[in-house]
Amino acid sequence: MHPKSLLTMQDLTNEEILDILNDAKAFSSSHSDWQIPVSSRKLTANLFFEPSTRTHYSFLSAQKGLGLDSVDFNPETSSLTKGESLYDTVRTFEALGYGLLIIRSPQDGYFNELESVGIPIINAGDGKTNHPTQCLLDLLTIYNEFGHFDGLNVLIVGDVAHSRVAASNKEALERFHANVRFAGPKEWEREGFPFSDFDESIPWADAIIMLRIQRERGAKLSDMSDNDSYLERYGLTKERAAKMKPGAIIMHPAPVNRGVEIDSDLVECEKSRIFEQMKNGVLVRKAVIKRALGSEPFGRTHC
Ligand code: CP
Repeated sequence: MHPKSLLTMQDLTNEEILDILNDAKAFSSSHSDWQIPVSSRKLTANLFFEPSTRTHYSFLSAQKGLGLDSVDFNPETSSLTKGESLYDTVRTFEALGYGLLIIRSPQDGYFNELESVGIPIINAGDGKTNHPTQCLLDLLTIYNEFGHFDGLNVLIVGDVAHSRVAASNKEALERFHANVRFAGPKEWEREGFPFSDFDESIPWADAIIMLRIQRERGAKLSDMSDNDSYLERYGLTKERAAKMKPGAIIMHPAPVNRGVEIDSDLVECEKSRIFEQMKNGVLVRKAVIKRALGSEPFGRTHC
């Protein structure tokens, strides 16, 4: 695999994570007009095998802002329909002169079959296992709010079993000494993810990250009838939000199902950082592309 690929958060040292956050912050201020030097620019392709709004279009925005030309691959009109494999598709892009690929796939660890590819790949989400750029934008949102990670309490709530956001965020936040707890339906507990009671954990949390039910991955609750309200049982209601500590924030990777995992009025309330997360997504993806194409970090952040 190319050394500047970003497939999982484990591909990054703590120092590299801080460099990316620092570069992302610089893109929002001192380096807002910075572009990839002309000699390092590469044609980029976005290969999305799963629907996406935020990740796909923020990568497009980042590519445009950095001065890169990019194309969107359409699986339905491609030779995948004639039986070509993902590996051969990716090797084809490499042969055609593309220098950077952004890939999202429903398959856990799809990149394991791409080991011999010689151009950098950025993982835009694989199955239920990794979403590194979502994790980085979540880290940036938390860092911008609190100025550090050490000792912060982060509560991740909902469909933990099928969530790549939960998996990537747990790994990265714990590396920076945040305390991470999970809550939600018992059926969606996940091995190695410490669950606790949602209502008891609300006043503990500095950040609450709500998760969407990943129905496309088969998420279903056997103990809920059609008349049960998921919001009342497991979601962030206004009553629950009122028990959050002062200064605590609400996050969600989105798309949000308003009125299911979170009360619609909370999505844009004063505690919510949900749309801020999306803005940070463009900045972080610029920083990740900059790294992938070999530019040095602008400077260092000390968390
Ligand atoms: N958060 C996220 O990955 O959203 P999209 O599926 O819209 O890209």
